[in-house]
Amino acid sequence: MKKGENIWLIGASTGIGKALAKELSDTGARLVLSSRNKDALEELEKILGGGHFVCPVDIADSASVAKAVSFVTETLPRIDRVICLAAVYTPGAFADIPEKDMENIVNTNLAGTLRVAKSVLPVLEQQGGGQLVLCGSIAGYAGLPASQPYAATKAGIMNLAQSLYMEYRPKNIDIKLISPGFVKTPMTDKNDFPMPFIMQPEDAAKRIAKGLNKKSFEIHFPRRFTFLLKFLRLLPASLYFFIIRRLA
Ligand SMILES: NC(=O)c1ccc[n+]([C@@H]2O[C@H](COP(=O)([O-])OP(=O)(O)OC[C@H]3O[C@@H](n4cnc5c(N)ncnc54)[C@H](OP(=O)(O)O)[C@@H]3O)[C@@H](O)[C@H]2O)c1
Repeated sequence: MKKGENIWLIGASTGIGKALAKELSDTGARLVLSSRNKDALEELEKILGGGHFVCPVDIADSASVAKAVSFVTETLPRIDRVICLAAVYTPGAFADIPEKDMENIVNTNLAGTLRVAKSVLPVLEQQGGGQLVLCGSIAGYAGLPASQPYAATKAGIMNLAQSLYMEYRPKNIDIKLISPGFVKTPMTDKNDFPMPFIMQPEDAAKRIAKGLNKKSFEIHFPRRFTFLLKFLRLLPASLYFFIIRRLA
């Protein structure tokens, strides 16, 4: 990572985003820290030692995204990377997830990511290049028991990232996909089931920061878990369901 890069980090207030903000700040990057919770972002900006910007945004709201994009383009001379980690999650069986939660998950995770991509890609194109990083999940690789609406949005983001990669590569815009396994954050603190190979957010942030400069499209971790799931999804559906049921 070059010192002095300008990075817009969306979903910076907690969890992986907060740890990534520290990691990127340590490399000398100048960050625009975004999420809905302004107080948490201001607190983080202080922890990072200043020199960054706070820009509250609700990616579930088009007007809010448009306002934030204006702020970022007016504040930074150039945007080197946009990293969108913002997402919401309601655990549980499908029947138990309230419809309003389901709609919020889709409107935030999938439609919100689309809004961000739609708004920032023209800016990156106009400046001659840059990087857009979207966040999927191992939950998006193939169907797993529980967390269905969340997992479906993550599958959508993975598909979106692949399409964008092909469309924007020739325009000197690097699209990356982050696919984390379980990471201990406020999001996974809601889970009441065992989470294999769970990592600390600081470890996840280190892997992400390292992966941002690599050529590979996908930053996935922990590898022993992600490679296992990548293999399982290649199996015929009946065998896949059988193995996942046994593992779950
Ligand atoms: N933790 C895991 O095991 C895991 C595994 C796979 C993938 N992931 C993905 O990794 C990313 C980070 O997750 P995390 O575990 O760090 O969760 P987290 O601690 O809950 O962080 C989610 C972030 O998204 C922000 N956010 C939520 N709704 C938003 C909205 N409408 N507009 C703007 N920001 C919004 C939250 O801040 P505010 O509340 O301040 O808005 C927060 O900063 C997510 O995309 C998640 O799906 C996590």
